[in-house]
Amino acid sequence: KSPSPAAAEAKSEAAKSVKIGIYFATWWALNVVFNIYNKKVLNAYPYPWLTSTLSLACGSLMMLVSWATKIAEPPKINLEFWKALFPVAVAHTIGHVAATVSMSKVAVSFTHIIKSGEPAFSVIVSRFLLGERFPPAVYLSLVPIIGGCGLAALTELNFNMTGFMGAMISNLAFVFRNIFSKKGMKGKSVSGMNYYACLSMLSLLILTPFAIAVEGAHMWAAGWKEAVSEIGPQFIWWVAAQSIFYHLYNQVSYMSLDEISPLTFSVGNTMKRISVIVSSIIIFRTPVQPINALGAAIAILGTFLYSQAKA
Ligand code: 3PG
Repeated sequence: KSPSPAAAEAKSEAAKSVKIGIYFATWWALNVVFNIYNKKVLNAYPYPWLTSTLSLACGSLMMLVSWATKIAEPPKINLEFWKALFPVAVAHTIGHVAATVSMSKVAVSFTHIIKSGEPAFSVIVSRFLLGERFPPAVYLSLVPIIGGCGLAALTELNFNMTGFMGAMISNLAFVFRNIFSKKGMKGKSVSGMNYYACLSMLSLLILTPFAIAVEGAHMWAAGWKEAVSEIGPQFIWWVAAQSIFYHLYNQVSYMSLDEISPLTFSVGNTMKRISVIVSSIIIFRTPVQPINALGAAIAILGTFLYSQAKA
């Protein structure tokens, strides 16, 4: 006997939830590994412009090889696509390099606490630049987000202005990336995986000249020698790991965007930050004062209230 339509629907809903659960778990796990290796590399080799460039280069190379070997189907795209992608790539590049500069100056947990304030930036930009209006509950949810991030920043033991501003700039840039990418994706039939691949390639082209101008080959070579003599030859594997995992976590997050709403995505992203904050505090033995942890908890609670208010 064939199952009733209601039973079949419940089954497909359950299968979808399992699939999204797997995407989320993979995304968070890959992100934790990226954050740990990225910080290990930055501690020994403080050149965030180069490490951000290498992450994009590695992802671009992985995708070019996947297309050439038909592991992944190459996308059918034209000049219009690249033009629409350009502002997204500029915002992605700024957000990426700013977050990496931030992590080179402060604890990973601190960068991610400030990055959990991204919804506040989203509301402010949407309200003042796009004229969007929100229900009062959305504005109210900004109070714990901003207050919690503020408290965490004020009580951070190793506060550093560049580290703080890098995370703030990253928040702002990623809000624009999300706004532009919503516009750019409209009516396009490019999968999340290929969309992210093209984004990496264009961002790589944008970032490379700036990385050379800000840091440059001379500094990179001298720093590399020092890092290898301090860490040993396995240093190159740390760099490879941070680059590969950066691409993989972003690829999985863009793939999950195909399946879920932007709102579910932002809840998932906040939960991801909790796993990064907790695991990095344990691994790097980051000192945290109770009041500092309270600030982080309030900010994260605020982002949940925000998602409830928006839903
Ligand atoms: C980066 O290097 O791009 C940041 O770590 C990105 O942070 P997010 O993807 O967690 O917002």
